[in-house]
Amino acid sequence: MEVKTSLLDNMIGVGDMVLLEPLSEDSFIANLRNRFDHNEIYTYIGSVVISMNPYRSLPIFTPEKVEEYRNRNFYELSPHIYALADEAYRSLRDQDKDQCILITGESGAGKTEASKLVMSYVAAVCGKGQEVNKVKEQLLQSNPVLEAFGNAKTVRNDNSSRFGKYMDIEFDFKGDPLGGVISNYLLEKSRVVKQPRGERNFHIFYQLLSGASDDTLKKLKLDRDFSKYNYLSLDSAAVNGLDDAANFRTVRNAMQIVGFMEDEVQSVLELVAAVLKLGNIEFKPESRCNGNDESRIRDKNDLKEMCELLGTEQTVLERAFSYRTVEAKQEKVCTTLNVAQAYYARDALAKNLYSRLFSWLVTRINESIKAAPKSRHKVMGVLDIYGFEIFEENSFEQFIINYCNEKLQQIFIELTLREEQEEYVREGIEWTNIEYFNNAIICDLIENHQNGILAMLDEECLRPGTVTDETFLDKLNTICAEHLHFESRLSKSSKFLTDHSLPHNCFRIQHYAGKVLYRAEGFVDKNNDLLYRDLSQAMYKANHSLMKQLFPEGNPAKVNLKRPPTAGFQFRHSVGTLMRNLQTKNPNYIRCIKPNDKKASHIFTDSLVCHQVRYLGLMENVRVRRAGYAFRQAYEPCLERYKMLCKRTWPHWRGPAREGVEVLMADLTVPAEEFSFGRSKVFIRNPRTLFFLEERRRQCLQDLATLIQKIYRGWKCRSHFLLLKKSQIVVAAWYRRYAQQNKYKRIKSATTVVQSYTRGWQARKLLRELKYQKRCEEAVTTISAYWHGTQVRREYRKFFRANAGKKIYNFTIQRIMQKYFLGLKSTMPSMSPIDKSWPVKPYLFLDGVHSELRRIFHLWRCKKYRSEFTEEKKAVFEEKLEASEIFKDKKALYASSVSQPFMGDYLEISKNPKYQKLNSAMDEKVLLADVVNKINRANGKGTARIFLLTKNSVVLADQKTGQVKASVPLPDLTSVSVSTQSDGFFALKLKEGSASAIKGDFLLSSEHLIEIITKLHRTGATAADSEQLNIDISDEFLVQFKHDKVCVKFIQGAPKNGNSVSCKRKNNRLLEVSVPSTV
Ligand SMILES: Nc1ncnc2c1ncn2[C@@H]1O[C@H](COP(=O)(O)OP(=O)(O)OP(=O)(O)O)[C@@H](O)[C@H]1O
Ligand SMILES: [Mg+2]
Repeated sequence: MEVKTSLLDNMIGVGDMVLLEPLSEDSFIANLRNRFDHNEIYTYIGSVVISMNPYRSLPIFTPEKVEEYRNRNFYELSPHIYALADEAYRSLRDQDKDQCILITGESGAGKTEASKLVMSYVAAVCGKGQEVNKVKEQLLQSNPVLEAFGNAKTVRNDNSSRFGKYMDIEFDFKGDPLGGVISNYLLEKSRVVKQPRGERNFHIFYQLLSGASDDTLKKLKLDRDFSKYNYLSLDSAAVNGLDDAANFRTVRNAMQIVGFMEDEVQSVLELVAAVLKLGNIEFKPESRCNGNDESRIRDKNDLKEMCELLGTEQTVLERAFSYRTVEAKQEKVCTTLNVAQAYYARDALAKNLYSRLFSWLVTRINESIKAAPKSRHKVMGVLDIYGFEIFEENSFEQFIINYCNEKLQQIFIELTLREEQEEYVREGIEWTNIEYFNNAIICDLIENHQNGILAMLDEECLRPGTVTDETFLDKLNTICAEHLHFESRLSKSSKFLTDHSLPHNCFRIQHYAGKVLYRAEGFVDKNNDLLYRDLSQAMYKANHSLMKQLFPEGNPAKVNLKRPPTAGFQFRHSVGTLMRNLQTKNPNYIRCIKPNDKKASHIFTDSLVCHQVRYLGLMENVRVRRAGYAFRQAYEPCLERYKMLCKRTWPHWRGPAREGVEVLMADLTVPAEEFSFGRSKVFIRNPRTLFFLEERRRQCLQDLATLIQKIYRGWKCRSHFLLLKKSQIVVAAWYRRYAQQNKYKRIKSATTVVQSYTRGWQARKLLRELKYQKRCEEAVTTISAYWHGTQVRREYRKFFRANAGKKIYNFTIQRIMQKYFLGLKSTMPSMSPIDKSWPVKPYLFLDGVHSELRRIFHLWRCKKYRSEFTEEKKAVFEEKLEASEIFKDKKALYASSVSQPFMGDYLEISKNPKYQKLNSAMDEKVLLADVVNKINRANGKGTARIFLLTKNSVVLADQKTGQVKASVPLPDLTSVSVSTQSDGFFALKLKEGSASAIKGDFLLSSEHLIEIITKLHRTGATAADSEQLNIDISDEFLVQFKHDKVCVKFIQGAPKNGNSVSCKRKNNRLLEVSVPSTV
């Protein structure tokens, strides 16, 4: 349910001054102070918002606050600027009423901030979307640009707006912003050339010098040092809390967002720089012979740079500073300027240049933010204009500003009264005339076309002849003497002749907000706002892109001899336009007040506030508002708020709200003259009545609160009790269960222990019994076995005594043998004849059997081995066997031959074509063919011969030719002699008398001696007609060489000559063969 609130809730003081009781200036200010002390900076006077400047940031401008005030009735929440902004925006959007928000107050009271708050609120609550957001952003970003060029630090405000601003924001039918139009009023251009003590020039000068890059400054021919520029006041160049460099960046960014092109920004900065340069141009006097004083530029460097920036010719400008051309009726008169006039011209140019640049900026921004011309737009105007100003010395500017404020006050009174009256008519309430001060008379004093002060000033300015401020004052004294609000010492009325507070050169006007003394000095000059034509023409000639727009009057083609309109005239005109504009709109007022002069938070200076309250006419405002009825409220919220005061309307009123309020009022016996019933609202005449209702409501609320509290507490306690009870039952149930569970577990474990003990005891008892029983049974069995044994032995003794030992012995032996053989079977060695292993004997008594079995097994194994031989292999082995029989242990060479197989044909005689002839000469199969050395009988040297053995003969042939050298039939061989040593020498001895024996025996040596001899032996043995070949093995044997017998002796020689066997003929009878011991 939405909570209905009201302005009247939690009020600090009173939120609406209309309700102030008693109403007096003191109570008014006390209420403001009270609220200010509690950070309530906003207070209403009906629909007018009074805003106190807090001089610090308060947390009341957050997005949450925006949401809080969005779509709420004006009086629903505590006073806030957002409430006013919301009201204005909603009636613009929903009721199609154009709005204007008029923000007034003195300098530093917070007008500009208030205008920004209103704009930001409207931006936050209106529609969204890419295009809309862009428009919003451009509208909001126009502020920093205008503030940089139009605001300055003054003694009253560090960011004082030195121009008036009115901005029309245009919306479509949905309430989405489309664009805007800004109007500016009277920029305080005198500030460009001179600033009062403690104040600064416009922000942009300082921002440019602090924030621009070195490069930019170089392009603009500027120096970062403020002190180099005459137009910049130095004593307050730096402002606390103001970061000029950062602000410069913000301004550039804002210009970009608003839509300024880069070259436009550059042009603007060039003009700003030119103004600074202009201030540095100085003049010196120069006397001419005709007695006239002339001026010359002192140092032309600044002039040169300025001309470069503006793109003008230096000589043109120099001339414009030295001469003045006056044109009248086709005549041109040229006069020289003295130093003072030259300075005047320079400053006038600077002021005009800057103020026209400012106006150009406004026009340029308007170009960017203007809405597309469509059907009717809804418009919300925001006016941030300078407030009423009373200084010690007031001049033309204050006069103008105060005139503007007079006009605003007039429109305020008019519109407020009109609104009040309209509401009464709307609601059908009788209109009672309200007395108030109408300041139209003061406006008339100033703006009257015939004899108004401004008209007279213009008249003076346009009048030929000598015109001074004094002549102007004289004129005023004559014409306005009788005016009630005009005071002057020299006026025709003698009233002020002795008034010493009124100097002779001044006049005083009684404004609606107080008396202001104006010094007449400078009025004429400022009103004329003269810029010599030579200067405007020089400017027009400049090459700079903006100059032609800024100085259109300098166009020589359009020389206008008519004087330009005066400043006063222009201002009056624009104020008139503004007023007409405002009158078509529904006004909303924000009256800004500053609490102190020190720009400090928490200080509330009564006198200062009182002064502002007076000149803002706030008391007047309250009185007007209260003249009829002090308070009004729609029936529904009124009934909603007070229905608890009457039993018939509480808690629900079923009928129409108006009847409910009537019943309520009747029930409360409120006097009939205290209220009136309008069509939709009830009007309450006195705040007293409202406070009576509020007080009754407060009491009632207290009672209701007590009742609600009582019921709530009862309900709460009961619920709490029931909850506790329910919880207690649950807890108890759980606890009991838990306790029982534990008890059960304990009993269970105790039972188990008891049971186990009992069972153990029973089991042990049983075991004991069973053991006893078993022992008894065993005893019985044993006894009976013994008994039976005895019986059986006794019976069978006679059978056992004979053969028992022998049988057991045989049986045992049998078992042992059986085990032995079976064991042997599994541990048999391998079948290899050379395997020497044999299982160890298990029993000593089997020793003989064991070795016999080994022998038998070996023989059987050999037999088995032999039975696998082929015939060839058998023959080979037979030969090997025969060799062993012949040579084993007899000749040392034998051992090395055992492992060499007997190949027989070492020359492959049948295959080798070299021996084909030799082979074919053999009539038998060659059993052995080898190369041997035939030892020369004469010197013991060897000659290689082929040795062939066939079944019948031994053949020696030449190794190279294969020619048979000797063929010895085997029967002719009687014996073969070999040594015991490891040499290969052998002598074939021939039968004496045989044909072969003619040349004697053969002494040969061969590497295969053992094989040759064995084969010879075998062949000899098998040959049928030959006798057994003797093999003689000794280290000395005789060999028959032809007729001689030579003894061949083998000796052990030292290993030399490459370990070979050497044979030497020692003498006729001795051939010595030395065999190395290692061979
Ligand atoms: N609502 C606010 N919250 C916080 N500070 C504020 C508020 N309103 C004003 N101020 C402070 O007061 C200073 C002056 O306010 P502002 O510039 O709006 O005055 P002004 O009425 O526009 O003065 P001028 O007529 O000289 O332009 C601001 O710079 C700011 O410091
Ligand atoms: Mg301002």
